[in-house]
Amino acid sequence: MDYGPSTMDYHPCTKVNEYQLTKKKSLLHKAGGQEDNMKVAVVGATGLVGTKMLQVLEERNFPVTELVPVASERSVGKEVEFKGAKYKVVTMADGIAAKPAVAIFSAGGGTSLEWAPKFAEAGITVIDNSSAWRMDPTKKLVVPELNADALTAEDKIIANPNCSTIQMVVALNPLHLKYTIKRIVVSTYQSVTGTGKKAVDQLFNERRGEEGPMAYKYPIDLNVIPQIDVFLDNGYTKEEMKMVKETKKIMRDESIRITATTVRIPVIGGHSESVNVEFENDFDLDEVKQLLADAPGVIVQDNPAEALYPMPLWAHDKDEVFVGRLRRDESQPNTLNMWIVSDNLRKGAATNAVQIAEYLASKGLL
Ligand SMILES: NC(=O)c1ccc[n+]([C@@H]2O[C@H](COP(=O)([O-])OP(=O)(O)OC[C@H]3O[C@@H](n4cnc5c(N)ncnc54)[C@H](OP(=O)(O)O)[C@@H]3O)[C@@H](O)[C@H]2O)c1
Repeated sequence: MDYGPSTMDYHPCTKVNEYQLTKKKSLLHKAGGQEDNMKVAVVGATGLVGTKMLQVLEERNFPVTELVPVASERSVGKEVEFKGAKYKVVTMADGIAAKPAVAIFSAGGGTSLEWAPKFAEAGITVIDNSSAWRMDPTKKLVVPELNADALTAEDKIIANPNCSTIQMVVALNPLHLKYTIKRIVVSTYQSVTGTGKKAVDQLFNERRGEEGPMAYKYPIDLNVIPQIDVFLDNGYTKEEMKMVKETKKIMRDESIRITATTVRIPVIGGHSESVNVEFENDFDLDEVKQLLADAPGVIVQDNPAEALYPMPLWAHDKDEVFVGRLRRDESQPNTLNMWIVSDNLRKGAATNAVQIAEYLASKGLL
């Protein structure tokens, strides 16, 4: 989907500081060995994440020998484009009958709960973007930079974490390994693209002064909505508790204390996060910057003198996680403030899922 303004493509390359080096390869393993027969199903191929998934598979040259686009009954027969060819959308049942090696799902939790086991039973590896399987103790919750090594050929349903969680753990993990995180306080500023097509339409309808279906209870343009997903009995939203639980599972550390406030803002380029992190051990700020600069998938944009810091405007359609505003919390010891931005449709969803598929293919696990 093209969101328009060409300023989205502007990248502050002219403003690089010593930490914002050349664009790093975010990962890792390029697929190999299975090139001859890699039939790939994209379930939810007509949605925001699914469309990005097709783009990322193509860009990263994942060795797709045949694409099987799947969506709801509403879309059966519609065409999607992949590598210059057109493919007709098929039903779930036809998706299974096509016997792909891997099915990348982004079609909502209910669809995943019902259909992922059926794909898995047919021997198809499912990588699922919904929240359906993330906290299931029998399923792996994977961010390849952190824990792809846990995957085996027996993992037939693999969960992709929540978008806000992925970008946070990619940035925090190198610091956790060095200084040991005690507590995280995170506030998010999340893009409407995180809600799906209907929300993007709501924002642009409002901007044009047109009526249309509402993805949110309230107007989103010129507004800020401090609710993402439903409220739970403890007063937190489900999105906030996803960040709490998923972070501990991915980082394999139940002792990390974390509290979150998640907020929707009228932005499309990606999610932003203000993160206050307390460590067991003290840190050196220059070393923090270097650890982040060296971390896979992370780019440091931190030069206050030149007003250089991550923004959704620049993170839009990029695979990396951008980190800046790095500064010591002067109110208590061993504590760092940081600002983390990433495109939720990329690293928060499609890129992470494709990276998992690349890892599986490179290890002969598909
Ligand atoms: N947006 C994000 O940043 C993000 C990040 C991480 C994870 N996710 C997750 O990814 C999923 C999709 O999100 P999205 O933003 O792409 O939503 P979206 O734009 O609304 O797209 C939803 C997709 O799911 C398909 N679908 C819906 N019901 C279906 C059914 N019963 N059977 C088969 N396909 C069905 C839709 O097909 P039709 O076009 O035929 O309706 C469409 O392709 C959600 O689970 C979401 O939580 C989203």
